[in-house]
Amino acid sequence: MTVSSPSIQELLARRVPGYALEQPFYTSSEVYELDLQHIFYREWLYAIPACQLTKSGSYVTMHVGAYEVIIVRARDGEIRAFHNSCRHRGSLICKAREGQVAKLVCPYHQWTYELDGKLIWANDMGPDFDASKHGLKPVNLRNIEGLIYICLSDTPPDFEPFAELARPYLEVHDLNNAKVAHTSTIVEKGNWKLVWENNRECYHCSSNHPALCRSFSLDPEVAGVSADGSVSATLQVHFDRCEASGVPARFRLAGGGQFRLARMPLQERAVSYTLDGKAAVRRNLGRVALPDAGSLLMFHYPSTWNHFLPDHSLTFRATPISPTETEVTTTWLVHKDAVDGVDYDLKRLTEVWIATNDEDREIIETNQRGIFSPAYVPGPYSPGQESGVSQFVDWYATRLERSLTPAANGCGVKE
Ligand code: FES
Ligand SMILES: [Fe+2]
Repeated sequence: MTVSSPSIQELLARRVPGYALEQPFYTSSEVYELDLQHIFYREWLYAIPACQLTKSGSYVTMHVGAYEVIIVRARDGEIRAFHNSCRHRGSLICKAREGQVAKLVCPYHQWTYELDGKLIWANDMGPDFDASKHGLKPVNLRNIEGLIYICLSDTPPDFEPFAELARPYLEVHDLNNAKVAHTSTIVEKGNWKLVWENNRECYHCSSNHPALCRSFSLDPEVAGVSADGSVSATLQVHFDRCEASGVPARFRLAGGGQFRLARMPLQERAVSYTLDGKAAVRRNLGRVALPDAGSLLMFHYPSTWNHFLPDHSLTFRATPISPTETEVTTTWLVHKDAVDGVDYDLKRLTEVWIATNDEDREIIETNQRGIFSPAYVPGPYSPGQESGVSQFVDWYATRLERSLTPAANGCGVKE
């Protein structure tokens, strides 16, 4: 902290809507810590598709800032989340990213927990030891139509407004009958907000994403948000066609701008994200009968954006790992009975988004490097092309401002 550093409140107060943020928002460790404390440690975060945990005892681990979490399917079929920190002396219990276990056994002194978190064995702890007081600490978890969200706060925000809105849109995609066809995790050397800003526009698509542009629409309305929530006549026709066929489609932005759902058309004649625009999977995941229903685009700040197509679905999870690094995990979901090599070809299914993710990584890293320059000044977003970026930044700034008031006064931020 330096005498001349503006406080986070000053930085937020002098922010110009419609413009990129000032440098500290993308580079400073103080702002990063505030982002974790006030946003990632408090909001619901997308974790995994439920189908990733196929059997009893299958688990995944994840970390969000300083928190370490285990998500595990128990014998009763329920998926639960726990803090991955032993109730003895705090060791990590599961070190691997994923695996399958009969019990959760701490590697340090072998305290052993049932898959529902109960402590069932602890050697030589004396007659007064009460195992029932030393179960794993639970993490809040919700399963919405096969998508697992967690919240690290002991007083999580209400999940229901999102769940109620999203449920009918998701239900037709039948994610409870999905399987993971492929997962990719990459680290992008850019602040998590740059990852989101890049995600919320397709201004960059025509010059950077040759494979994606064969199927993804370049119409700015697809990524954007109109100020009054209105949509064009063409888009309304698409929504009406989808809804007449029984699948929710219309544009909904809610939760103070935290989440959005809309079933957007793809390029003419494209039905899926493949190089030829044809379906990637012969056996559909879900009950979307209209082949050209397009892609249900769903985002939920600050952790996930998703694409649900008639033939398969894609989830993306963005996790900040440092002020200038973000982990992005992409998961391709297909019908559980679809067979690789018969109903789909894994390379064909995944190649468009593997290429697109890599192109986005390059863009974001280049953006971050330019922002490090002392000469960087925030420039204006395109009103026609980057309304979605403005919307994200407005949500972020409002969210942080609300959480910081009245606490955290005088917290200086290095420029
Ligand atoms: S720290 Fe886990 S058993 Fe000792
Ligand atoms: Fe992109």
